[in-house]
Amino acid sequence: MILEHSPCLTNAEAEQLARDRFGQRGWARALTSERDQNFLIESGDHAPPLVLKIANALEERGLLEAQQHVLAVLAQRGLPVPRVVCTTTGDAITEQSGKDGRRHYVWGVTYLPGGLLADVRYRSPALVEDLGATVGRLTAALALVDSPALERDFHWDLTRAWERVAATRPSISDGALGEAIDATLARVKRHVTPMSGKLRRAVIHNDLNDHNILIAADRVSGVVDFGDMLYGWRVADLAIAAAYAMLDADDPLGILGALVRGAQDECTLDDGELEVLFELACLRLALSASIALEQQAARPDNAYLGVSQSAIHRTLPRLMRVPHALAAAVARGAAGREPVAHSVAVREWLQANRSTFAPVLGVDLRTEPSIVLDLGVASPLISGNEEENAEPGLTPRIASAKRVAGVRVAVGRYDEARLLYTAPFFAGARPESERRTIHIGLDLFADAGTPVHAPFDGVVHAFANNAVPQDYGPAIILRHETHESAPFFTLYGHLSRTSLDGLALGQHIAKGERFAWLGAPNENVGWTPHLHLQIITDLLGLGTDFPGVAAASQRVVWRSLSPDPNLVVGIPEDRFPPAEPDRLRTIAARRDRLGGNLSIAYRSAVKVERGWMQYLFDDTGRRFIDAYNNVPHVGHCHPRVVRAGQTQMAILNTNTRYPSDLVNEYAERLRATLPAPLQSGVVYLVSSASEANELALRLARARTGERDMIVLEAAYHGNTTSLIDISPYKHGGPGGCGAPDWVHIAPIADDYRGPFKRNDADAGAKYAKPIAALVARAHNRGRGIAGFIAESCPSVGGQIVFPPGYLSAAYAIVREAGGVCIADEVQTGLGRVGTHFWAFEAQGVVPDIVVTGKPLGNGHPLAAVVARREIAEAFDNGMEYFSTFGGNQVSCAIGLAVLDVVRDEELQEHARSVGERLLNDLRSFVTRHELVGDVRGSGLFLGVELVRDPVTLEPAEAEASYVVNRMRDEGILTGTDGPYHNVVKIRPPMPFDRGNADRLVETFDRVLAEIVSPA
Ligand SMILES: Cc1ncc(COP(=O)(O)O)c(C=O)c1O
Repeated sequence: MILEHSPCLTNAEAEQLARDRFGQRGWARALTSERDQNFLIESGDHAPPLVLKIANALEERGLLEAQQHVLAVLAQRGLPVPRVVCTTTGDAITEQSGKDGRRHYVWGVTYLPGGLLADVRYRSPALVEDLGATVGRLTAALALVDSPALERDFHWDLTRAWERVAATRPSISDGALGEAIDATLARVKRHVTPMSGKLRRAVIHNDLNDHNILIAADRVSGVVDFGDMLYGWRVADLAIAAAYAMLDADDPLGILGALVRGAQDECTLDDGELEVLFELACLRLALSASIALEQQAARPDNAYLGVSQSAIHRTLPRLMRVPHALAAAVARGAAGREPVAHSVAVREWLQANRSTFAPVLGVDLRTEPSIVLDLGVASPLISGNEEENAEPGLTPRIASAKRVAGVRVAVGRYDEARLLYTAPFFAGARPESERRTIHIGLDLFADAGTPVHAPFDGVVHAFANNAVPQDYGPAIILRHETHESAPFFTLYGHLSRTSLDGLALGQHIAKGERFAWLGAPNENVGWTPHLHLQIITDLLGLGTDFPGVAAASQRVVWRSLSPDPNLVVGIPEDRFPPAEPDRLRTIAARRDRLGGNLSIAYRSAVKVERGWMQYLFDDTGRRFIDAYNNVPHVGHCHPRVVRAGQTQMAILNTNTRYPSDLVNEYAERLRATLPAPLQSGVVYLVSSASEANELALRLARARTGERDMIVLEAAYHGNTTSLIDISPYKHGGPGGCGAPDWVHIAPIADDYRGPFKRNDADAGAKYAKPIAALVARAHNRGRGIAGFIAESCPSVGGQIVFPPGYLSAAYAIVREAGGVCIADEVQTGLGRVGTHFWAFEAQGVVPDIVVTGKPLGNGHPLAAVVARREIAEAFDNGMEYFSTFGGNQVSCAIGLAVLDVVRDEELQEHARSVGERLLNDLRSFVTRHELVGDVRGSGLFLGVELVRDPVTLEPAEAEASYVVNRMRDEGILTGTDGPYHNVVKIRPPMPFDRGNADRLVETFDRVLAEIVSPA
């Protein structure tokens, strides 16, 4: 056995060998190897490290020479592979005798930078594609190598793996693994063996497992360990890379597709190679399991031998549940081929014979009027509330659309992203993962009992009552043989139960024959009566379990597996609306039309098409937990708010020049939420918080006769000219011109980053002290202070919670100087901080002016300024005040509805309890993740500050951006903030609940763990 001949040098012996033969002084560290020994020799000075390789005693010199030749060829072709380092006497290979007298060949190579792919916890699609591209380049370069020494008999040879795996199968005791190996062997026999003579052969690396691939900056930086090379199937390298990349992957077919996409550009894969790729990947895993079993018995001490085994035990059974034809279609689609080769012929046959087909519902929809419904994500027929889309909610809406159009049949579109599929069996790997949303049939809505006719001759291939809610209910599949195309199938779902009575497999159904009837909701598992008609080019062995809805990421494949059924029905194309632009086209149009400095969230922008409470849905129907948007305060599209706006819009919407009880009522309700004396203050209604803050400045100046303002470091108060002047976050940042001389910037009271820490009881007063110096500065210039403006919890400042006593001390200094104190509550008002309705209340102060905006209109542009009466009186100086849109009746109706919902749904208390738990859970990160420096906030206004060093607090900006983008990938929307953009901010719509909080914590935790550098 080869392992008995493995070398066993100590580190000290390796160090001596490196010194004696290569002149390399340094410390040795053992690297992993199956049957050889590899040491990394590092000197600690600037000399490049050396990888010292001591071969197994059975290794032939010719093989080592072949390896060295290949490395030279690959390096020449620009592949990231090690270079051979010669000994001090100029030899590429030298020898060393072991203690047992055995002779081992010794050689050296350069060390490549990067961590092991095996240690990369998140493999981005871009990284997997880059791995595919690297393998593709390797495959192309290896095709140039001719080395007789590599024609060899080797236990890792995939071309002979079937026999080897079959031979060890009896000793595999693990039931699930054994079954998966049986399935692998059967599939290989069926799909690979007949092809084996046709598969191209070449020299291959033969061990592209994730311990032999190096990664740096999310790209492949090295390919190492060429010791397993041999002549084999050329596609085996990609298959082996796929095998290890798919281990424990949530979406193995996504990985397979990304690898092929990458490889295809570098070396064209032929049809046969694409056909066998997945099966060869599975065969490699089965081979690994077999060999590990033998080796571990021989060398139980070598942990590397079992390194992938538990993942293989978990993964191979899952992979065996993927139908062969589906995996092959994914590979073909990724390579730019038609995923199901004969789908083209089926479509051509249908197209050519279209005029001869019998009408499926007995009504010829080629000529009869019909209405094409929009049941997509942004359709007005659909609700964001899933309960309203279930029967009986949707049925009257569809019936009404039919009635209005005066038609018997309404059509639900093919290839449409829908929110209708909420049953568990449509879900992805995790609750917020991509679900199946793309409808790949055509729906024909008609009355229950409407007969269904065969469009052309067929035989009954399968039928069943799939009685799980949201499944097909009673369904029939017909098989169609044609002379011109391969056989294909048509599927008829949501039938009546009686449709299955007396049906027999193989039964012939003639063209035009009535063979089924539409089911009612109580028998079609809860759908509005309709026929789900689907064409299937390859049944994947699934029978009536063949999906009618696919994942958007596999759209290309499923469109080939199930082409458009309108090829059968023939509804005129002009009845279908034009396709909406895809995400990339929308982004490009936006860039062109809306200006370059309009920022866009996330590296991969989300094209949001619908909102519902604390959720957003993109154009593919993917659901995101919205943990970012505080504007839809009571929840996206809250029905009470929507209704209030719609109702008032139909009655009156005008301006404040006309007295209105509705406007008065809103002003009263809003000020009643404030403490005295603001409760009897004056309310100005405007249409943005920028407009509100502008007005607040004018009010302060009118009251004091002064112009100068004191503002906080890193503050943002709005987008107008004067507000940029009082916003250091903007005027001190890119494109800014600094503060004008009437603006005085006070340090932010940040008790994590600033000089006074949380354990200092006087921190609040200490942070306020510099304000006195700013007052003095203004006085020295012969001016007074108009006011002090501060967010009650600075948001862009980094989700800061002031230390106790800060605002009271600051207000006292400002008031002493005759200034007005303005609380910018734009981010935090209306119960968000949980403990109080307004965040300033937590500081025990009462401002002179309160400015609020974002949450007031739940997305409708409504903002307000509430000022003490005496300030308002000073402002009432003869100049008319008017805001065209501010205080219109629609805004006020919406504002009232928001206040009602906050009260009736007890959202402040909800924010307190959910926020408290979330804060506590997030706080546990501080001890578990080195990157997490601070977790702070109140209610549903939280920040997690990431730092690279707990002492210097070096901001971890790139890491925060990584977290936010990865959370987005995982279906949770957050953002970054703070002057260093290193604070992850969590500021969801208020209905955000405990379940959402738990999902956020679990995902955040997992994503943070991905950043940890490999051990
Ligand atoms: C604290 C604060 N004040 C004022 C504004 C300006 O609000 P608007 O964009 O509605 O003018 C913002 C906006 O982000 C803000 O965060």
